[in-house]
Amino acid sequence: MKIGIDKMNFYAPHLFVDMNKLAVARNVDPDKFTIGIGQDKMAIAPITQDSVTLAANAALDMLNEEDKKQIDFVIFGTETGVDSSKSAGVYVHELLGLKPQTRTVEVKQACFGATAGIQMAKGHITLNPDSKVLVLGSDIARYGLNTPGEATQGAGAVALLISADPGILALEDNSAYFTSDIMDFWRPVYSDKAFVDGKLSNEQYIAFFKNVWKAYKGKSGLELNDFEAICFHLPYTKMGYKALKTVLEEASEEVQERLLANYKESTQYNRNIGNIYTGSLYLSLISLLERQTDLEPGARIGLYSYGSGAVGEFFTGILQDGFRKQLATEHHQKLFDARKEVSVAEYEAIFEKTLPSDGSKMELDIEEDPSTICLSGITEDKRQYVNKAK
Ligand code: CAA
Repeated sequence: MKIGIDKMNFYAPHLFVDMNKLAVARNVDPDKFTIGIGQDKMAIAPITQDSVTLAANAALDMLNEEDKKQIDFVIFGTETGVDSSKSAGVYVHELLGLKPQTRTVEVKQACFGATAGIQMAKGHITLNPDSKVLVLGSDIARYGLNTPGEATQGAGAVALLISADPGILALEDNSAYFTSDIMDFWRPVYSDKAFVDGKLSNEQYIAFFKNVWKAYKGKSGLELNDFEAICFHLPYTKMGYKALKTVLEEASEEVQERLLANYKESTQYNRNIGNIYTGSLYLSLISLLERQTDLEPGARIGLYSYGSGAVGEFFTGILQDGFRKQLATEHHQKLFDARKEVSVAEYEAIFEKTLPSDGSKMELDIEEDPSTICLSGITEDKRQYVNKAK
């Protein structure tokens, strides 16, 4: 039985800051951000968007009534969840109007959460071929104003529908994964900003890639020439390129060119949104499929997932007949076109806005936010969500 990605969608908040302007404000050469790091725009989440609303908005546009009847498992990957106890998935389940006969959980391992969700979903579909699993990956990346990590922030979510006989990508069985306890990036429960050892994180990302790629080759007997494209977790778009470069010589010249050209297409959406942590790899896959019009059914795509701390995995999928029909390319173009630029000063003000943590009430102006699903406030420590379409 084929199991894999039947549908996929992403959502990003409607605000962004231009990286050239951020560079000027930080007294940095703009080329450092746009070339050295490889980011053009950074999505900014207003206070009316959190990891719950971003994920719910991503799934809302993707699911039809038939999907909703079949979904019986919601897996929410996030490292910027809103509650240490209650799963963010339960809020999304309600906002989307999914059926009560559903298992719902949140999973966490830095940017690896959504990948863990996909692998769990695969097992669930194996046992229940008629069900569908909604896997969400949603995060708001925050390192702090004026920090080295600032240029690699971002916000957004992906929603993936995992099923039998998938419409987009059938996942293959071979997969290589690796865990090692490393303090490259972490966020203690008392901090709303990530702590990071930037250089170590870059090194470990590449070391884990080399490790799982070697193990994958050993397990599968496949080599680089068997791949049409490889998508990477993209904390910033230069990062995947650095990892790809370390193995590129294993391929023929023709394949090297193809992998590099496809890598470029796979980074375009991320380049304009920033790091969305656990959804980032899948945003890159969406970017590749929607922008690279030469891809044909039967092509093998490699996927490298890395979650600091750290867990890495390399796995693969085969593009399915008619996969283009499942994509929402025009819808995504409209989303990009409708975004609004904010100045660096406006971004800083948005960054500093926080919800009360003393139980007091705050009502938020959701008219300013064009998203269908918004956070409308907080009362007695309970977040209030609104689906404007209901
Ligand atoms: N023109 C062109 N390029 C320039 C330039 C200029 N004027 N000035 C600098 N550059 C280049 C540098 O040469 C460098 O390129 P290489 O990496 O290829 O050598 C690049 O721009 C970045 O410069 P620095 O290394 O000096 O940048 P930095 O130390 O200020 O910060 C960072 C970079 C470490 C990535 C930092 O942004 C950071 O800590 N980010 C968060 C951590 C992160 O994203 N880590 C990635 C792996 S971990 C992971 O993947 C999980 C996750 O999602 C967090």
